[in-house]
Amino acid sequence: MTETAVGGPSLPQERRLVTAIPGPESQLRLQRKKEHVADGVGTTLPVFVVAAGGGVLVDVDGNSLIDLGSGIAVTSVGNAAPAVVRRVSEQVAAFTHTCFMVTPYDGYVDVCEALAQLTPGDHAKKSALFNSGAEAVENAVKIARVATGKDAVVVFDHAYHGRTNLTMAMTAKNMPYKHGFGPFAGEVYRAPMSYPFRDGLSGEEAAARAIDVIEKQVGATNLACVAIEPIQGEGGFIVPAPGFLPAIAAWCRANDVVYIADEIQSGFCRTGDWFASDHEGVVPDLVTTAKGIAGGLPLAGVTGRADLMDAVHAGGLGGTYGGNPIACAAALGAIEEMREHDLGARAREIGVTMAGRLADLQETYAVIGDVRGRGAMMAIELCTPGTTEPDAARAAAVASYCHAHGVVVLTCGTWGNVFRFLPPLSISDALLGEAFDVVAEAFAATA
Ligand SMILES: Cc1ncc(COP(=O)(O)O)c(C=O)c1O
Repeated sequence: MTETAVGGPSLPQERRLVTAIPGPESQLRLQRKKEHVADGVGTTLPVFVVAAGGGVLVDVDGNSLIDLGSGIAVTSVGNAAPAVVRRVSEQVAAFTHTCFMVTPYDGYVDVCEALAQLTPGDHAKKSALFNSGAEAVENAVKIARVATGKDAVVVFDHAYHGRTNLTMAMTAKNMPYKHGFGPFAGEVYRAPMSYPFRDGLSGEEAAARAIDVIEKQVGATNLACVAIEPIQGEGGFIVPAPGFLPAIAAWCRANDVVYIADEIQSGFCRTGDWFASDHEGVVPDLVTTAKGIAGGLPLAGVTGRADLMDAVHAGGLGGTYGGNPIACAAALGAIEEMREHDLGARAREIGVTMAGRLADLQETYAVIGDVRGRGAMMAIELCTPGTTEPDAARAAAVASYCHAHGVVVLTCGTWGNVFRFLPPLSISDALLGEAFDVVAEAFAATA
């Protein structure tokens, strides 16, 4: 099956279980994984995939699972999306690598031009390309430090910015991301996030609370940048109260502090706009992108005000593979898919469906304390009914029911009690509906 498998949207769009999950072929491969892959590299749902596309993942046993995770918000255009496959195939046959820092090529510049057009604001912008989200965040901080001549970095409670040394310091949650890996980079400070379900504050009140902490504990004259996810990802799909992001951005502007929107999870149509910052008209100084940008190939970017981006000396930004030609071709293919199929509108439609299904579930199951999110980035937070006491055990039970019944769901959140729903935007209505039927069964079966 491995040699002949072809993915993409022409795969049968169905949930099909022919074995238990994981099936015997996956189990054999799991033993090999155990033997050869470091234990620290975990797996949520251990089926080995041979093909994927539209809204399904097909495994070595012939099971077809509905995908509500998109490889953690990456395959927004769908797996093996036609424009991605076409452009990548052409590029891989033409040349695979030169290193943009040695001899340049058009794809890199084309992606930077597209990023300037698509990211919020119509000011002069430039970009630099990297391999992973964490690398983009690190470089955004480097740029902010050089541009301002200041050192300090402010991040928020529940933030996730990556697993490199600086980004571990910026990430909030200890286990599994930071535990035992210190000492971490210095000059990183944490401010309280707006978390409407838990703090009950308006956006303005939550911003005033955060700004007070920043002014008292850091000081604007020491502060290079504030980095924030406009909708937090791993931290629990926390949507700040309206007004929070504009107030933080305005404070940054007034205090010569670079406002960095980390749109790595929320960007590229996921929330129904090109970027989550667009929703409240916030124009960041720098935007970090990755994940959905390239339909599954490793690419990341920092895009922002040309004066900030150009503050760095020649040679100060880069890396061997950053903006690799194949990854750039994939990004141009993914952007083509997003434009051609108006995937922002599709994300909004998916969001309406998911919000409706989740609100219905909340009426029946009091364990669902909160339904939140935007577009195709929706979540539910499970708590002991009537409280904000996290119920991670129920989340685990519901997840394992879904997995056993052929639906890929992901949990997240500081307490591991949040379900995040991130279907590929290429999923059909029928498949999406069936997936939420299974989620509903999972709540009933674990009640
Ligand atoms: C908001 C955000 N920033 C940064 C990262 C790190 O990206 P990567 O895993 O590509 O390094 C992630 C990954 O989940 C993320 O969601």
